[in-house]
Amino acid sequence: MSTLKNDLLLRALRGEKTERTPVWMMRQAGRYLPDYLKLKEKYSFFERCQTPELAAEITIQPVEQVGVDAAIIFSDILVVPQAMGMEVQMVEHKGPLLPEPIRRASDLDRISVPDVEDSLGYVFDALRLTKKMLNGRVPLIGFAGAPWTLLCYMVEGKGSKTFDGAKAFCYTQPEVAHRLLQLITDTTIAYLKGQAAAGADVVQIFDSWGGLLSPEDFEILSLRYIRQIVAALKDEALTIIFAKGAWQSLEAMAATGAHGLGIDWCIRPQVARQLVGPKVTLQGNFDPAKLVSPIPVIEREVRAMLDAFEGGPHIANLGHGILPNIPVDHARAFVETVKNYAYEPAR
Ligand code: CP3
Repeated sequence: MSTLKNDLLLRALRGEKTERTPVWMMRQAGRYLPDYLKLKEKYSFFERCQTPELAAEITIQPVEQVGVDAAIIFSDILVVPQAMGMEVQMVEHKGPLLPEPIRRASDLDRISVPDVEDSLGYVFDALRLTKKMLNGRVPLIGFAGAPWTLLCYMVEGKGSKTFDGAKAFCYTQPEVAHRLLQLITDTTIAYLKGQAAAGADVVQIFDSWGGLLSPEDFEILSLRYIRQIVAALKDEALTIIFAKGAWQSLEAMAATGAHGLGIDWCIRPQVARQLVGPKVTLQGNFDPAKLVSPIPVIEREVRAMLDAFEGGPHIANLGHGILPNIPVDHARAFVETVKNYAYEPAR
């Protein structure tokens, strides 16, 4: 039995009919809310992640200030490489930096599958505290990066548009790449199980760079490992896979048994639905850059998006993370428009 006052997200993920479409926004915690930016002046990025009181406060801000139907824990996908033994820095205006990347077999000696209670217990503490502070208002989402996306950062050492270095590593040293992917997968399974035990109702796997791979390579380098994670979490949490740009592999992703699949704005919802079949819940797919539009335009475009999902099963979301320059009332207009919408089938 769920004791949540608002469990729309969970029911939508189970494929049940809901009175309206649930809505949340990727990267809703942090980035654009003025109260977050104030905390950012006082504490470093990892201080914010590692202090449960700060992480919980940031997690709840969009629930209270924007009215979303779910909270997503404030953290980052790169806490996993950090827990495995790599140094990770967040450089202002530049993004992540891993000064000693993985380049060859001997580099694997520097990393290991950690005891997640020791190295990531602060995330579990933040989840437990957030759960308590939410007091049943909305479900709580946990998350991790997909093994492929984490490999990209661990090998490249920084962000990239193409991750050619990570690909070169995989294509020239496939055996080492697969050992690395399996180490990340084993860590991620333990980590997400810990998140579920600490109160995450749903876990989302972010494969931000899945779209860089051909369908064949997506299967070999990404989906093979995501499949292990989804299977391991089967009895512990609802699962969502968001592999940005990897729409060519939606059908294969649906076959993993994940409850939800994220899509970005470059695929029509009707086409995605045809690929995945009637059961799985689709999540997305508003172009986050469009939230700069005047509010009446946002309202119109959000309704057009909802029309295209034809009554679901659907979770309204952006097709990627919210951008730092979005005014709060524009984010609120996105959420409010979803809440006020009722799907009427065309006759
Ligand atoms: O959804 C949420 O709001 C929860 C928090 C969250 C963060 N990162 C906080 C963060 C989540 C879900 C992430 C996921 C994440 N991190 C992804 C996958 C989603 C995506 O956007 O594709 C990726 C690729 C990362 C890696 C990462 N972390 C990058 C590339 C950057 C720098 C640029 C950026 O996105 O801002 C970060 C830093 C980061 N992670 C910030 C926040 C709020 C910004 C730094 C700061 O506020 O000090």
